[in-house]
Amino acid sequence: QDEKRRTMTVLGIETSCDETAAAVVEDGRVLSSEISSSVHLHAVYGGVVPEIASRFHTEYIHSVVRKALEDSGRSVDEIDAVAVTYGPGLTGSLLVGLAFAKAVSLARGIPLIGVNHLRAHIYSCFMREGAPADMGGKFPFVGMVASGGHTSIYLCGGLNDLSVIGRTKDDAVGEAFDKVAKIMGLGYPGGPVVERRAAAFRGGEAIDFPRAMLGDRSLDLSFSGMKTSVMYYWKKCAGTEEEKDRICFSFQEAVLDVLVSKLRRAVRDAGVERLAVGGGVLNNAALRERIGQFCGDDGVELYLPETRYCADNAAMVAALGEELFRSGSFSDLSLNAVAVMP
Ligand code: KG4
Ligand code: ZN
Repeated sequence: QDEKRRTMTVLGIETSCDETAAAVVEDGRVLSSEISSSVHLHAVYGGVVPEIASRFHTEYIHSVVRKALEDSGRSVDEIDAVAVTYGPGLTGSLLVGLAFAKAVSLARGIPLIGVNHLRAHIYSCFMREGAPADMGGKFPFVGMVASGGHTSIYLCGGLNDLSVIGRTKDDAVGEAFDKVAKIMGLGYPGGPVVERRAAAFRGGEAIDFPRAMLGDRSLDLSFSGMKTSVMYYWKKCAGTEEEKDRICFSFQEAVLDVLVSKLRRAVRDAGVERLAVGGGVLNNAALRERIGQFCGDDGVELYLPETRYCADNAAMVAALGEELFRSGSFSDLSLNAVAVMP
């Protein structure tokens, strides 16, 4: 009975953008992780349409949660707490997950735990198959979230001690990939197709796209100038398949140069020995490799999420939720959606 008492089972819910996700985590182990994405509905618009995203969440949240429970082998009566993303994200989307989580919390009389989406992305870096994440033993470290909505660098000193030390001045890095793909009519989302084309580039001269803020001392970043340069180049080039590959390769190189240089400086300035980088853009193999290289060279301990936890998912929300639960950080029914957070 005592053994049973210590077990903690958390249901996680994530609806901040265009993924409706639910997961069950027990004692730090992911029992199930279910994701239903509305990305196909946004593809024709070349970006996420908030109204379509929230309608999709409303339609799918129930079946996604039910599937996550089924796959986990746990019934709703065995859940000890509900963790839910409260921000940042699209308000209409966040509200669907919040309302659902509050209903479960109220109906079952179990705690509600509000999870910051960006912190969950950082937490995901430490999650490994079949074992609880050990983020607690890794502080202090530099963390970064590189996704479609965010590009920020943090100094992480503890579970509730994260400070922003650098951030994009304009576009998020994933957004820049999406816009570059859109300029060339390559579809949405842009990241995977740009990466594929960059890898297909058969060599020759790369285009020297600008690496904004590379030389300055701050840890801030900027991607909109790069995107504009791609647009001008695209307008005057022949537009062949080969040119598309060249543009994708050159753009990706420029992005990687900037990201790696800023991360390197962040780790040095902070005087820490560990780095954790999460978010959808970490699906990019070239980026993972380049970060890995500099960490190897500089003797930095690197934590990247497994690819299934790079993009938005509820496993990272449930897992961080369990940590918060164990540390006594609960929310209550007044928990509200927060659209923008640094
Ligand atoms: O984390 P995520 O799923 O959603 C947000 O919270 O934004 O990130 C989605 C972003 C999109 O902008 C997408 O183009 C980008 O991640 N992305 C990539 C790759 N796969 C997805 N960017 C570069 N290379 C990739 N392979
Ligand atoms: Zn995200």
